[in-house]
Amino acid sequence: MNNNAFSVNESHLFDIQELGDNRGALAVVESMKNIPFDIKRVFYIYGTAKGIRRGFHAHHKTRQVLISVCGSCKVHLDNTKRKKEVLLDSPSVGLLLEPNDWHEMYDFSPDCVLLVMASELYQAEDYIRDYDQFIEVYGL
Ligand code: TYD
Repeated sequence: MNNNAFSVNESHLFDIQELGDNRGALAVVESMKNIPFDIKRVFYIYGTAKGIRRGFHAHHKTRQVLISVCGSCKVHLDNTKRKKEVLLDSPSVGLLLEPNDWHEMYDFSPDCVLLVMASELYQAEDYIRDYDQFIEVYGL
């Protein structure tokens, strides 16, 4: 896939095709096809306690795609210029997070399984966890 061919809407959301038949649904994610980077790491967040808000960071380099494969949650996005709230409640919708998207996830349903695909391996140094530092790095 040519990266330019990948398009997200105003809220960074994009559709993931459902390959359903009478047995049920199936969805596919593939590097450089419907995910605009080589997937190096996958993790998933589940069993999130009521009232929990998590994330609170941006990245230097890592791009991510989030899919709520079960249940729902909300994501607060802030790229220093615009803030948005996005609802993830479908396994056929992806949310693309660029490195400069400060993100916080909240309002997890008890059954929520939030799948995250990342363009980089885990490196604590790639995280910007201080909001003032985030503004210093990405503001202007
Ligand atoms: P953390 O970044 O605090 O989660 P969130 O941003 O959703 O609030 O991650 C929780 C712990 O898991 C933290 O000790 C770092 C560790 N971790 C890894 O070791 N590898 C990973 O890929 C991720 C995402 C987290």
